[in-house]
Amino acid sequence: MRKILYLVLFNAVILLMIYSFSATLTSCTKEGPAGPAGTDANSWCILCHYYEKMDAVYEQYYTSLHGKGTSFEEEGNRRVCAACHSNEGYIETWYTGQDTTLTDYSWPENIKCDGCHYNHITLDSSDFDYALRVRDGFRLRMDSSFVTLYGI
Ligand code: HEC
Ligand code: HEC
Ligand code: HEC
Repeated sequence: MRKILYLVLFNAVILLMIYSFSATLTSCTKEGPAGPAGTDANSWCILCHYYEKMDAVYEQYYTSLHGKGTSFEEEGNRRVCAACHSNEGYIETWYTGQDTTLTDYSWPENIKCDGCHYNHITLDSSDFDYALRVRDGFRLRMDSSFVTLYGI
């Protein structure tokens, strides 16, 4: 009888050890240090990121010639024209700083949202970037004057 009691007790101790060991393991992987306080998405991000606003912007853009023009079909694939006439050429020449693209494009598309927008570099509301690729302004090709973007 005593033997059985010892066996039960021994098993209970082993179980307890396994339990407390696994509890230590999970607590190691679960909790990290608290991060810095972030921006409140509900009060700030939804100034732009809500369906009605984005739908309205899409509607306006795709009824403008930038969105609905068809010159990209004929000119967007040619390396001397693509910088202004296709989304791909526009993005490539922003990065390379060249007047022309390296090669012709087989499947050009018209200038789209991601021609000008990419990811936010900062989410700081006092130094906001509108997720624009270019934030510091740009030089016009026509007369080389430098244009800055209002408000950023
Ligand atoms: C003043 C307007 C504005 C505010 C405020 C704003 N954004 Fe944006 N955000 C944009 C624009 C414009 C784009 C680029 C267009 C797009 O991707 O829909 C963009 C793009 C993004 C993208 C990339 C989306 C994608 O599809 O790749 C993320 C993620 C994002 N924003 C998160 C945030 C967060 C988080 C906040 C708040 C801290 C925020 N934005 C506040 C205008 C804004
Ligand atoms: C530096 C930028 C730039 C380059 C490079 C460029 N274009 Fe254009 N192109 C424009 C702009 C901006 C317009 C719209 C201006 C307007 O309609 O008055 C336009 C309009 C056009 C149109 C009229 C489109 C329409 O739907 O009415 C044609 C055709 C055209 N370009 C052909 C070309 C060809 C061909 C090349 C290459 C040899 C070329 N473009 C290179 C900026 C450029
Ligand atoms: C030719 C470049 C260009 C294209 C293409 C473009 N945007 Fe923008 N967008 C801008 C610039 C520049 C701003 C910042 C305007 C400012 O300074 O107020 C902006 C601002 C915005 C804002 C914030 C506007 C606000 O009311 O605060 C939204 C949302 C946005 N864009 C969405 C889009 C979407 C969606 C598309 C595609 C349908 C698009 N944009 C295409 C250049 C562009």
